[in-house]
Amino acid sequence: MRRYNAYGGQAPTDGHALHSPARRRGATWLEIFRHQVAQVARFYSTHPAATAQTSPPSCSVSSATDLSWLPSSSVDYVFTDPPFGANLFYADCNVVWESWLGDVTDTDAEIVVNRSLPTSAGGKTLDDYEKLLAQAFNEIRRVLNPGARTSVVFHNADDKVWSALLSATDSAGTRPDRRSACSTRCSAP
Ligand SMILES: C[S@@+](CC[C@H](N)C(=O)[O-])C[C@H]1O[C@@H](n2cnc3c(N)ncnc32)[C@H](O)[C@@H]1O
Repeated sequence: MRRYNAYGGQAPTDGHALHSPARRRGATWLEIFRHQVAQVARFYSTHPAATAQTSPPSCSVSSATDLSWLPSSSVDYVFTDPPFGANLFYADCNVVWESWLGDVTDTDAEIVVNRSLPTSAGGKTLDDYEKLLAQAFNEIRRVLNPGARTSVVFHNADDKVWSALLSATDSAGTRPDRRSACSTRCSAP
């Protein structure tokens, strides 16, 4: 994932370019690991408050369609970056390292449009995608405190995919304020 850059530097491939670059730059995993550990150590040395907390931050993994481990009206803010229609198959992309970790994505719950497979074999239509997105936004609405906000990062060149997102947020009663939602990565239709 690191391309050769004649001007030097590490030059990882762009955020969503999940391909091997034509001219790669070698990288020693141990050096990268050391660098990451040093970065975390630097953070904790310069932000003592992060270590002084009485209850440490926690991290959970689950499908966004089922947040039953979170009580209703218990969350102040949600940031979400849902999959963009059929643009990327994250479960497929992640299968190597998820296998190393011994816990692969449950593809039944994966929010994606997958026309490569028949629906009987795990394929998903735009309608399926919208239903799963709606489940996720329903859960977001349930766990949010009244008046709390959600930020949604989204991009797709296909207006049908945008409509699926807006229908899902509408059905959950969490329609985004598109005036404030647009950034360089997000263009509302
Ligand atoms: C646009 S990417 C977000 C990438 C992330 N913001 C990042 O910077 O790494 C969408 C992510 O949603 C995940 N995803 C798909 N279905 C999901 C579900 N049901 N629950 C939670 N995450 C899901 C995908 O595996 C993928 O990692």
